[in-house]
Amino acid sequence: MNGHRLEGRVAIITGAAGGIGEAAARLFVENGAFVVIADVQDELGDRVVASIGPERCSYKHCDVTDEKQVEETVAYTLVKYGTLDIVYSNAGILGSLAGVLDLDMKALEKIIDVNVCGGVAMIKHAGRAMVAQNIRGSIICKVSVGGTRGGIGPPGYTASKHALLGVVRSASREFGIYGIRVNCVSPYGVVTPMTCTIPGLRTRLDPEFIQEQMSSISNLKNMCL
Ligand SMILES: NC(=O)c1ccc[n+]([C@@H]2O[C@H](COP(=O)([O-])OP(=O)(O)OC[C@H]3O[C@@H](n4cnc5c(N)ncnc54)[C@H](O)[C@@H]3O)[C@@H](O)[C@H]2O)c1
Repeated sequence: MNGHRLEGRVAIITGAAGGIGEAAARLFVENGAFVVIADVQDELGDRVVASIGPERCSYKHCDVTDEKQVEETVAYTLVKYGTLDIVYSNAGILGSLAGVLDLDMKALEKIIDVNVCGGVAMIKHAGRAMVAQNIRGSIICKVSVGGTRGGIGPPGYTASKHALLGVVRSASREFGIYGIRVNCVSPYGVVTPMTCTIPGLRTRLDPEFIQEQMSSISNLKNMCL
């Protein structure tokens, strides 16, 4: 996708201080959009804004597990850019790698909190703003192949993405009458900080190695590092 497909559109992308979200922010801007980069990594977020250009994007601290911050991010976008056409609810974590037999319930709660509750909060507040302003917008949630398959990712992650897919399906039906689309994208393996970092360990895996492994079993190429 390149050109002017998003000319003048205003988008919020959560989890855009790195990885796939950052790559999406660059692509959206290349296509003419104004982008609010919403993340918890302030320093990285500011760096992404500086490298893309502050005239086309801005950074807003937003922990998606805090509903108030999500609501504030939507309000900030409306004030700064005057509208909200697209929300790419991309923020997510891999969380615990433990199998069900060893799964710590607090760790499970954390994954659900970020990947499911964070997504729901974003859909809710973006949806409210779009309905109130009669905007026929588009909300895109980041699911995963783990949202429809078991055994590809750890069980906590798999459970969270299955749940998020359910929310997307429900909201798409609920929002359809307002002309608001709710969809998801479900990638397979993409080389990003998430897939190169083992939770709990500081060691970074070799991106080339991960890329080789993923390319051998999936279609999409290139890294978002
Ligand atoms: N990389 C893959 O192989 C892959 C495959 C399928 C789906 N996904 C999904 O794509 C999304 C992005 O993944 P990625 O690989 O780019 O990961 P990443 O770790 O590189 O980036 C995730 C971003 O989300 C942010 N984030 C984490 N918790 C947050 C919170 N509470 N509030 C706001 N921001 C938060 C992080 O700071 C980070 O910038 C995730 O939802 C992930 O589950 C990734």
